Amino acid sequence: MTREPIPGQRAAAPVQGAGHDTGCREESVQPDMLRAQDLTRHYPVGQGLFKKGLTVKALNGVSFGLARRRTLAVVGESGCGKSTLARVLTLIETPTSGSLVIDGVDVAHATAQQRARMRSKIQMVFQNPFASLNPRKTVMATLDEPLLINTPFTRRERHEKIAAMLGQVGLRPEHAQRYPHMFSGGQRQRVAIARAMILNPAIVVADEPVSALDVSIQAQILNLFMDLQDQFATSYVFISHNLSVVEHSADDIMVMYLGRVVEYGSKSDLFAGPKHPYTRALMSATPTVHKQDRRIRIEIGGELPSPLNPPSGCAFHARCPHAEERCRQESPALRHWEGAQVACHQLEKISG
Ligand SMILES: Nc1ncnc2c1ncn2[C@@H]1O[C@H](COP(=O)(O)OP(=O)(O)O)[C@@H](O)[C@H]1O
Ligand SMILES: [Mg+2]
Repeated sequence: MTREPIPGQRAAAPVQGAGHDTGCREESVQPDMLRAQDLTRHYPVGQGLFKKGLTVKALNGVSFGLARRRTLAVVGESGCGKSTLARVLTLIETPTSGSLVIDGVDVAHATAQQRARMRSKIQMVFQNPFASLNPRKTVMATLDEPLLINTPFTRRERHEKIAAMLGQVGLRPEHAQRYPHMFSGGQRQRVAIARAMILNPAIVVADEPVSALDVSIQAQILNLFMDLQDQFATSYVFISHNLSVVEHSADDIMVMYLGRVVEYGSKSDLFAGPKHPYTRALMSATPTVHKQDRRIRIEIGGELPSPLNPPSGCAFHARCPHAEERCRQESPALRHWEGAQVACHQLEKISG
């Protein structure tokens, strides 16, 4: 969440598709804290004794790299696979296929000890802090648990660390003895952020971390994320269905549609000129961004199709104003386009 791009440093571009290596990896100057290659997560559903099972392709070949102290925003409407990606990245679920390398260690080939270490390196902040915090535990107990398990600190050292952490997330020492229900929504999210940050993780995956909060509180929590990133040099994967939420905090943006990446690029490029018709529609539907674009409002008709029965060709074709026969037949691969990567057959037509 550096406000200015770090010169010479950028996350490697994502590639999509079954095992294709487009040779984009060398673009990353600094080794990635996290590298996802062709990640898929499929859920078998509706299986029964006499019923043939169906498969929900929630995540369908997603690749990207994330460098230290960078923020990758993942955006897309509800149901496009963002939370599935978050669960796979935080090792809550194993991918159906594809590889995930965290700080140089391939998760699939990691020993139990390495996996345990990875789990403390990569933490998650959930949308609803009321659900993610144990209502029976004080803040002190909630923050003490990861320290007790993962560090050799004495009780006194742990309490000092907790007091310091509470200060860093904008809470007071006396808050340590309180239970989650005694806090406001914003304060609860501060507790959840403290819990995620207390082991100084390399990566934090935040899944819609401000969506459940009042609009007036959202900016405070976003600023807190940015301040903590400056202090701890954390890398963030910041998930939101709302582009305006990531407008100030992201370095790069990955737009997802039905389990796939449709556009990936630097935040500044994407806000200056969204390329994929879906990104354009998302942007014009976001009230606080791109005021000039709102005049030419692009509607996305219909709903996100079901991942149980995805459309043929480009998954967006039925809702796309530019779709032609090829879009109905052939799934577009990501390709370089004006500094970004975009999966669309009609880019020449749209920009021409
Ligand atoms: N455990 C599961 N079993 C079956 N389908 C699932 C499961 N988890 C998610 N899905 C489906 O995968 C798709 C993507 O879901 P999700 O990752 O939650 O999307 P998002 O977070 O973008 O709203 C949805 O169609 C959802 O119904
Ligand atoms: Mg979600």
